[in-house]
Amino acid sequence: MSNKILVLGANGNVGQALVPLLLARGEQVKAASRSGKAVAGAEGVVFDYTRPETFAAAFDGVDRAYVMLPTGYVNVCALLLPVIEAAAARRVKVVLQSVLGVDADDAIPYRKVEIALEKSGTPHVILRPNWFADNFHTFWKAGIDHGSIALPAAGGKSSFIDVRDIAASAAAALGSARFDGRAFNLTGPEALGYAEAAALLSRVLGKPVEYQAIDDAAFIAALTGAGVAQDYGAFLASIFHPVREGWTAVLSPDVETLTGEPPRSLETYACDHAPALGGSQV
Ligand SMILES: NC(=O)c1ccc[n+]([C@@H]2O[C@H](COP(=O)([O-])OP(=O)(O)OC[C@H]3O[C@@H](n4cnc5c(N)ncnc54)[C@H](OP(=O)(O)O)[C@@H]3O)[C@@H](O)[C@H]2O)c1
Repeated sequence: MSNKILVLGANGNVGQALVPLLLARGEQVKAASRSGKAVAGAEGVVFDYTRPETFAAAFDGVDRAYVMLPTGYVNVCALLLPVIEAAAARRVKVVLQSVLGVDADDAIPYRKVEIALEKSGTPHVILRPNWFADNFHTFWKAGIDHGSIALPAAGGKSSFIDVRDIAASAAAALGSARFDGRAFNLTGPEALGYAEAAALLSRVLGKPVEYQAIDDAAFIAALTGAGVAQDYGAFLASIFHPVREGWTAVLSPDVETLTGEPPRSLETYACDHAPALGGSQV
């Protein structure tokens, strides 16, 4: 009988938070990664988006799957559409991690994947998270260490979402059929500009952190100088356009609809991650 949940990206930001939540709910989990190592007590399985020959073993015994694309890939449709097809062919329910705002235009690659899933006939839930709060202790950590977060966000605000709230939303969507066929926008409880976020981090961490608004060219140059591929740097710069336009300031009730709990604030995120953020008051 198929009653396992396949979690793609199980070693990643969302996956590491999601796997223990599913295990705590008594679910059987197959934790997918390129190495196939076990994650947090869940059975490990080899899965590689770029190697479709790994899909069959990963989907074996599975009735639900958390599908996401790891950071660093720009070929969204080429990598995700075959996974959606493989899931739908087995009538596996897909909870898809998409991106806030992609429903603005059907030509956006992530929206194309959403549409393919909607048309596939397999049960599904779409989750569209806003910018992760957790980017501050990953992508923007080097800037925090130097006291300056430099981004092409101008004065745009974002309702940053804590990865733990994405994971809790995913666990709810995977654990019940109540939300099937729907899409949910996952945001934090407040919209903050990067200057406000930097001030908050400075206060919580007990050290100076400022925000420096830069243009796309300076941002891409900084990223490529740090070893990021040119096309991914350009992609990252492009996704600050919605921030500058104010589109990422939206507040959604959907985390609470899914989980029964309000989403965590950026302050809660910062306090809980102070060691990872390099705080001096920890
Ligand atoms: N960061 C944000 O602000 C934000 C906002 C909205 C949406 N998103 C979306 O969220 C996604 C990233 O989520 P995340 O941060 O949880 O993921 P992640 O941590 O970047 O990646 C998850 C895991 O995927 C695995 N992986 C990498 N390449 C793989 C491959 N070829 N085949 C199979 N597994 C592979 C890696 O583990 P192994 O090395 O062990 O295989 C990695 O730990 C992106 O698609 C992004 O568009 C991000």
